[in-house]
Amino acid sequence: GAAGTGERVVAAIDQGTTSTRCLLFTHSGRMVAVAQREHRQHYPRPGLVEHDAMEIWRNVRRVVPAALRRAGLEPSNVVALGIANQRETTLVWNRHTGIPLARAITWQDTRTDTIVERLVSEGQTGLYAGISGLGPATYFAGPRLQWLLDHVPGAREGAESGDVLFGTIETWLIWRLTGGPDGGRHVTDVTNASRTMLMDLRTLQWSDELLDALRVPRRMLPEIRSNSEVYGHCTGVLDGVPVAGALGDQQAALVGQTCFAPGEAKCTYGTGGFLLKNTGSRIAGSEDGLIPTVGYLFGDDPVYALEGSIAMTGSLVQWFRDALGMISTAAQIETLAMTVPDNGGCYVVPAFSGLYAPRWHPDARGVIVGLTSYIHRGHLARAVLEATAWQTREVLDAMNRDSGLPVTRLKVDGGMTANHLLMQFVADVLDVPVERPLGSEAVSLGAAYAAGLAVGYWPDLEVLRRNWHRAAAWEPGMDPGLRRREHENWGRAVDRSFGWARHSS
Ligand code: G3P
Repeated sequence: GAAGTGERVVAAIDQGTTSTRCLLFTHSGRMVAVAQREHRQHYPRPGLVEHDAMEIWRNVRRVVPAALRRAGLEPSNVVALGIANQRETTLVWNRHTGIPLARAITWQDTRTDTIVERLVSEGQTGLYAGISGLGPATYFAGPRLQWLLDHVPGAREGAESGDVLFGTIETWLIWRLTGGPDGGRHVTDVTNASRTMLMDLRTLQWSDELLDALRVPRRMLPEIRSNSEVYGHCTGVLDGVPVAGALGDQQAALVGQTCFAPGEAKCTYGTGGFLLKNTGSRIAGSEDGLIPTVGYLFGDDPVYALEGSIAMTGSLVQWFRDALGMISTAAQIETLAMTVPDNGGCYVVPAFSGLYAPRWHPDARGVIVGLTSYIHRGHLARAVLEATAWQTREVLDAMNRDSGLPVTRLKVDGGMTANHLLMQFVADVLDVPVERPLGSEAVSLGAAYAAGLAVGYWPDLEVLRRNWHRAAAWEPGMDPGLRRREHENWGRAVDRSFGWARHSS
């Protein structure tokens, strides 16, 4: 143990869709300990996905001391805490009791489809896209907040009287960590705020026009802050440690991968897959189904990013494991897929929450096509993995159609990058080299970087760049004719998923 040795580390909390983790990092960006807890997914009806925010908070209070114990460190060894979180997941709570009024509605939840449809049919797309950069979609937090205000008893009155607060998950955790009822800091960071459909992407402030349009009382909103500054100090867990960084998990990975120059891009494979390209001071257009978003704000000048969000990548493997029982651990999918040379003509389109970027078909639903008696579990495993690669390809194509620098190599991170078969297939279908840094914990590392920069633990971005070391690389090697045929088949499979939810109820 190093307790009392004066070792200084930065702590990161990665509050993701399926689990909450605490990681500790040294000055060289090396991870010295990790502790993790999963939380329950609530599926009250098809298309609905909820989390219990109290359970998430309890998990934070467990994983932080557990990580410290593993490293043999004390809170006094921690110079700062950074937070990365699942984005767009929406919560309201009572500021006096600290109790959520309802379960958090997660980013995959499609209950706001009727709200979104109305906004689109009333011709309001331009209003939202023009100010927030986001066209109305069930993915974003704003319509979800409207839904909560309209459906949860007491929510709207409480919001108007100042008793009920809104937050995405980083807001909830910062509020809890810095004091709880009446004492906590009620803040959000620019990257999470940029996913609400409520923030002006240029001024980085809440837009009165959009708040009016979605009927959201301003009083319930957190203050928007930069990604790297001291928001407050922990009480209880990590007592006295400054909470000094917060970013949405995908922006955190952009920072963790040190994509600090325009044109640099990363894709993180977690529950979903999220490809972000740094666009510098430029807010990129979104005609091709991609999302302009805040990359990070360190200091005064925002760095923007263009994002392609894929709703299901790792969660499809989880479904294959848990709902279908085809494998018993996620890692086994690689072995199973390797029992066959190809997909046998079978394709899986994981439109479980509709299709996100670049197609944005909210009423698409999942399909498996090309089934014959020839197909067995191995082919399905392969098709499940291939779905991740083809979805990435669609996003990359859209990104390269966008003006600006094309992506010529892709940095990857997240749990699925341990799967070599998949990463090779990604490189093959993208036809660009794919590379992974030492330690695939870019999300947590990015949150740690933001916090460490704020307290002077790291002096500047150049030092962070030098911490990036390539651990693995995959070169494209697929026959172009085969790639073209498979791409076409994938496209035909996707066509089959369109509109399913519309005709099935
Ligand atoms: O936008 C949703 C994203 O932040 C969730 O990330 O890693 O939990 O799938 P992940």
